[in-house]
Amino acid sequence: MAEKIRELLSEEEVNTRISQIAAEISRDYQGREIHLICVLKGGVFFTCELAKRITIPVSLDFMSVSSYGSGTESSGVVRIVKDLDEPLEGKNVLIVEDIIDSGRTLAYLIDILQKRGPASIRLCTLLDKPERRVKKQVKVDYTCFSIPDEFVVGYGLDYDQKYRNLPYIGVVEF
Ligand code: IMP
Ligand code: MG
Repeated sequence: MAEKIRELLSEEEVNTRISQIAAEISRDYQGREIHLICVLKGGVFFTCELAKRITIPVSLDFMSVSSYGSGTESSGVVRIVKDLDEPLEGKNVLIVEDIIDSGRTLAYLIDILQKRGPASIRLCTLLDKPERRVKKQVKVDYTCFSIPDEFVVGYGLDYDQKYRNLPYIGVVEF
């Protein structure tokens, strides 16, 4: 392996922050049910840790999308690889993502899901790279960490399908 991983956020820092965000979500949705949509594969570790800490009723569904693009740039044209199992009508949807970069994938996804008649749609992400945003209309409701423009792995995020299982967030140094 040519690349090295430098720790950016420790497992403890990540988990502490997820607990805070889960408490915030539980307060904001008090008296309602929340329907978490995990965006596979990267969002799966975060979704599990978040869901375990939310204290109001939660249902879960999973979606997998692939963004056409060349190299490191997503195009914003998204193909649904695995669609949701459940309808969204009347539900309070919270999309759970690993990272928001240009925002192209999310802009497209929100558009598709909005048409299915949910009561509300909000967005929750583990990481955000605000400097990279192209789709300025993508509003993130819950962000665990804003990070600089560096390529990160761990806690679900991969480099060439590797490092998803790291329990912390690290920067890839080539
Ligand atoms: P966007 O459409 O440009 O916002 O693309 C977001 C997607 O790109 C994320 O869901 C990740 O799959 C991937 N991505 C963006 N930045 C990183 C990174 O630093 N590490 C790993 N994957 C990333
Ligand atoms: Mg993703």
